[in-house]
Amino acid sequence: MKNLSRRQFGKAVAATSALVTANLPEFAFAQTQPSPTLRQFPPGFVWGCATAAYQIEGAAAEDGRKPSLWDVFAHTPGKIANGDTGDVADDSYHLYKEDTRLLKDLGAHAYRMSISWSRIFPDGRGQPNAAGLDHYKRVLDELLANGIAPYVTLFHWDLPAALPGGWQSRDTSLAFGDYAAYVARELNGRVQHFITTNEFSCFTDLGYQNGQFAPGLKLPAAQVNQVRHHGILAHGLGVQAIRANAPNAQVGLAENIKIYAPVIEDSANIEAARRATREENAPFLTTLLEGKYPDSYLEREGANAPHVEPGDMKAIGSRLDFVGLNVYTPVYARADGSPRGYALEDYPASYPRMASPWIYLGPESIYWAVRNVCDIWSPPAVYITENGTSADDKLTPQGRIDDVDRVMYLRNHLTHLQRAAAEGYPIKGYFLWSLLDNFEWADGYSKRFGIHYVDYKTQKRTPKLSAEWYRQVIRQNAVV
Ligand code: FCB
Repeated sequence: MKNLSRRQFGKAVAATSALVTANLPEFAFAQTQPSPTLRQFPPGFVWGCATAAYQIEGAAAEDGRKPSLWDVFAHTPGKIANGDTGDVADDSYHLYKEDTRLLKDLGAHAYRMSISWSRIFPDGRGQPNAAGLDHYKRVLDELLANGIAPYVTLFHWDLPAALPGGWQSRDTSLAFGDYAAYVARELNGRVQHFITTNEFSCFTDLGYQNGQFAPGLKLPAAQVNQVRHHGILAHGLGVQAIRANAPNAQVGLAENIKIYAPVIEDSANIEAARRATREENAPFLTTLLEGKYPDSYLEREGANAPHVEPGDMKAIGSRLDFVGLNVYTPVYARADGSPRGYALEDYPASYPRMASPWIYLGPESIYWAVRNVCDIWSPPAVYITENGTSADDKLTPQGRIDDVDRVMYLRNHLTHLQRAAAEGYPIKGYFLWSLLDNFEWADGYSKRFGIHYVDYKTQKRTPKLSAEWYRQVIRQNAVV
């Protein structure tokens, strides 16, 4: 072998595999069609992009909108990098036609967007604001006229600031149910897919436990568990409200489950990753999909466990049409012979990360997210409702952004997602985060996640290399 050049080695391998193929029995061909090297997705697979209202819209005080917790938080000195706010963001409130054009140019089938609750109910409840609703009707009509299916998230963290106590109050969950009922009724027909909430842990734990996100509180465990309970209760009441008011729509959620990949793909470690998935997501997805808090979670929390009222668990366990998974990064799980059956690995200092330090590069996470969720709970359908990465994008003198690191990240994730599809898991679609650079929460505008570059001074959008790459993925329905 030493004496062969690399090229000769390649030829030798090809010749051997041709020989092997020639000797394969008939059924083996049937099993491997279409060729796995094409990395093809199933027919009808939905390709889209995702955004969220506060991150792109701007127009913070327009047409009757009142502040959300994020407006208040962003205007509190020291909370957001560089003192950035979402006041203007991408000005998508006014530029939505241009943004629809970007989707159209990609050939996208779908767009995951969110509705700003305080545009619809400026005070969180009570009198609806017709101007706010009309805006979304125009946005949806523009998408539909361009053949793009809207997947609408009702709550992507921008809670109306006027609601007393925020998520500490059970009334907020009830207000969400009313808001969901109203929006579902008004948008019924235009929207076939509703997503109740986005990422429980981000608006509960990060907002009320470690204070990194709005409203920036650091509460003790019992109160945090109650906030979490109000979050999942809101989701459940939202599902019921949507079903009652838009009976033909599909209902799901978008959740950033903690994703566990086995350290080695053998049966013991696969089982460990599965157990970790169920256990570590206990207060959120596990409870929603099982309709009860797992006993181990209640035992662990003891006196800090949430207070649950009659009827809560029935709402929380409402049947879902799909589970949406937001996928960015994995944690590695290992079988360790302990009673709970798993140990979690720390990342070595040398573990590669993307531009946001919280994104540890682990493309197999997308496969294990889908597989673990399906193996444990068998949901009827799964979407990837977010996947993407920040990158230190630079404009070349010619005006190009060659974000090869983002393309690498995305391509490798899609390769692993294709594996899940090829193995028959019910994965129906993929939403890339994000259509365009935007307000990245506490990181402000310092982290760019878009496949379109935004010049925040001029609001000019420029497709990055990753946009061209995604266009080809969509056209071929395959990893390219
Ligand atoms: C997710 C959020 C989304 C965006 C990405 C990078 O946690 O849902 O709004 O900020 O991270």
